[in-house]
Amino acid sequence: MSDTKVYQASTTAPVNIAVVKYWGKRDAELNLPTNSSISVTLSQNDLRTHTTASCSPTFTEDSLLLNGSPQDISNARTQACFRELRSLRSALEDSDSSLPKLSSYPLRIISENNFPTAAGLASSAAGFAALVRAIANLYELQSNPTELSRIARQGSGSACRSLFGGYVAWEMGLKEDGSDSVAVEVAPASHWPNMRALILVVSAEKKGVSSTSGMQITVATSKLFKQRAENVVPEHMKEMERAIKEKDFEGFAKVTMMDSNSFHATCLDTFPPIFYLNDVSRAAIRAVEDINNAAGKTVAAYTFDAGPNAVIYFEEENLGLVAGALKSVLGGVDGWNGKDVESKSAEHIDERAQ
Ligand code: DP6
Repeated sequence: MSDTKVYQASTTAPVNIAVVKYWGKRDAELNLPTNSSISVTLSQNDLRTHTTASCSPTFTEDSLLLNGSPQDISNARTQACFRELRSLRSALEDSDSSLPKLSSYPLRIISENNFPTAAGLASSAAGFAALVRAIANLYELQSNPTELSRIARQGSGSACRSLFGGYVAWEMGLKEDGSDSVAVEVAPASHWPNMRALILVVSAEKKGVSSTSGMQITVATSKLFKQRAENVVPEHMKEMERAIKEKDFEGFAKVTMMDSNSFHATCLDTFPPIFYLNDVSRAAIRAVEDINNAAGKTVAAYTFDAGPNAVIYFEEENLGLVAGALKSVLGGVDGWNGKDVESKSAEHIDERAQ
């Protein structure tokens, strides 16, 4: 009798926001970075992708629905993830002939984000991490998060850091085949439980220059970029890992802000220049400086990805000081729409059914 079952597994993956930024590829096909990076994982209560992967011999072709809309999956990145996962499943099937041949069945992926897609909120990170883990669960692969991060990296670089909770480093690796370009945990979320992130949604519109094309133009044209990748980032990585391990907020904050500034300086040094920050972003930077000056120590740190939205890190005991001051300063700024998300860190959830 032929198999007509539908096999299914679901998972969620969180958004991560880098505090030492990935910007630049040394190999675009394998998606290998020019520098290592570190991120903080945000709470899945606020920002996450939920993905269900199913497969069945009764399906006609591979498909992906994101927030209800069919997506083009013919791109090399999605195909690389499907190919790698199918080949791991196929190796399992070869070693145990009683297993159903899921690797040969078409895949149906259904993903939902609970935040605006492509608004500079790292949606591709949570998206590819959830896609890879949902299929790995469906295929019952025994892979650990670092192994899965090697696959998710090929979907979107920052996605490799969304397979963990807490504080995560993406080690750039040295090998040409990318096998050592993977994510590792620096510390779990529980290590620094009072860390908080506030996201100032300056604009929820799709960003102007995508990260992928922006970083390619930077690598090709910016001289400052080489200096950042070779000298600035290695120092930031060391100092950031130390600050996280010692829960030294002032050290963490200083590197976070300096690394964001260094990244946006290389964007400005790109030719033609890339402007991700706008007037509201700059007002947020000044507001954080004012908060820190008024407190007499560093209690808040800003960082910006490839868009104008600010992410502000602070420790919970300083919530009143930070959120109150930001709202009162930014409330009067033209372009500030008053939306924000406060976030804690959390672990992922898996569900499986068949
Ligand atoms: C500024 O991971 O989106 O957010 O690998 O081309 O998909 P691709 O790029 P992506 O770039 C993220 C850039 C960043 C910094 C970071 O998250 O480290």
